[in-house]
Amino acid sequence: MPTEPGIAVEGVRRAFGPVHAVRDVTFTAPPGAVTGLIGPNGAGKTTLLLLLASLLQPDGGSIRILGHDPVRDTAAVRSLIGWMPDTLGSWATLSCRASLTTSGRMYGMPKPAAAARAAELLDLVGLTEFTGRPTRVLSRGQKQKLSLARALVHRPRVLLLDEPASGLDPAARVELRVLLRGLAADGCTILVSSHDLAELEEVTDDAVFMAAGETVATDRVQRAQSRVREWRIRSLDEAALDTALAGRAGVRPERGDRLVPVDGERAAADLLAELVRSGVPVTGFGPAVGELETTFLELERSGA
Ligand SMILES: Nc1ncnc2c1ncn2[C@@H]1O[C@H](COP(=O)(O)OP(=O)(O)O)[C@@H](O)[C@H]1O
Ligand SMILES: [Mg+2]
Repeated sequence: MPTEPGIAVEGVRRAFGPVHAVRDVTFTAPPGAVTGLIGPNGAGKTTLLLLLASLLQPDGGSIRILGHDPVRDTAAVRSLIGWMPDTLGSWATLSCRASLTTSGRMYGMPKPAAAARAAELLDLVGLTEFTGRPTRVLSRGQKQKLSLARALVHRPRVLLLDEPASGLDPAARVELRVLLRGLAADGCTILVSSHDLAELEEVTDDAVFMAAGETVATDRVQRAQSRVREWRIRSLDEAALDTALAGRAGVRPERGDRLVPVDGERAAADLLAELVRSGVPVTGFGPAVGELETTFLELERSGA
C-alpha cells in the first residue's frame, strides 16, 4: 500500500478582500521527509501554512492532513499538527517551563506528564538554563527555540514551521537541522517555509516553489533544474587554469576563482578529469550556488 501523504493540497485558494494571498496551490509532502516551501516575501507562504494548520479557512480547493480535512475535521487535524508561527505569541510573563506546560495542558495532558514533557523539550532545544525565566528575557533566537518546543509538545505527526531559522545564529541553525532530520527519521511530515534559499538548501529533501499565491508546476521546476549551472573552480595556478579553460564559453573570474557554465553533473565530472589530466593544480571544484537557488533564479527569469 502506498504511504498516505502527510500533507495533500489541491487547488487551494484564499483571499483577504481584494488580496488573493493564495490563488492556486497544489502539492503533496510525504512522511519521513523535510519539504521546503520556498518563495519571496508576500508569496502567500504564511497564509498557506495557516490554512494547513486549520487556523484559517480556504475559499476553495482541498486540504488533507494525513487524510483529515482541516475544515470538517478540525479537532483531528489540530491533534496531528505542530505549528510554529513566525513570531512567538505573547505570553511574556510566563516562564519557559510554564509556557510549555500550559501548552501541554491545552492538548489535554495531565499535569505531571505536561511538566515532564516541558523539561524534556527544554533540554531538546537547549533552553534548560532558562527553565524558570520569563519568556520576555529570551533573545529572538531563543524565542524561536521555545516556539519550536511548543510546536512539539503533543508529539505531532505533521510539523508546520514558518521561517523557523530566521534569527538563529549559525550554530543554532545546525542544531535545528539536526533536530528536524531526527524528527523526519521518526516518520514525521515536515513542511518548512523560508524566503532564504541557502537556509532551506541545508535542511530539505525536496522543495515546493511558490510565487504570487501559486505553486509552480513540477515540470517547470524540473526544466529549470536541468538548465546549465555555474561551477566554481579554484587552482593554485590561475594561469594554468585559464589555459585549460580557453575555448570554453561563458567563463568569468570571481575573486581568484573561475565560474564556468557546466551542463549537468556528468559534464562536471568530465571537466574535472580533463583539468587534472592537463596538470592543473585544482584546489576547489563545486557548484557556484546551491541547486535551489539556481532553480529559483531560473524560474524567476522564465517568469514564474
Ligand atoms: N490577514 C490579512 N489581511 C489582508 N491581507 C493579508 C492578510 N494576510 C496576508 N495578506 C496578504 O497576502 C499576501 C501573502 O502574505 P503572506 O501569506 O504573509 O506571504 P509570505 O508569508 O509568503 O510572506 C500579502 O500580499 C499579504 O499582504
Ligand atoms: Mg510569511
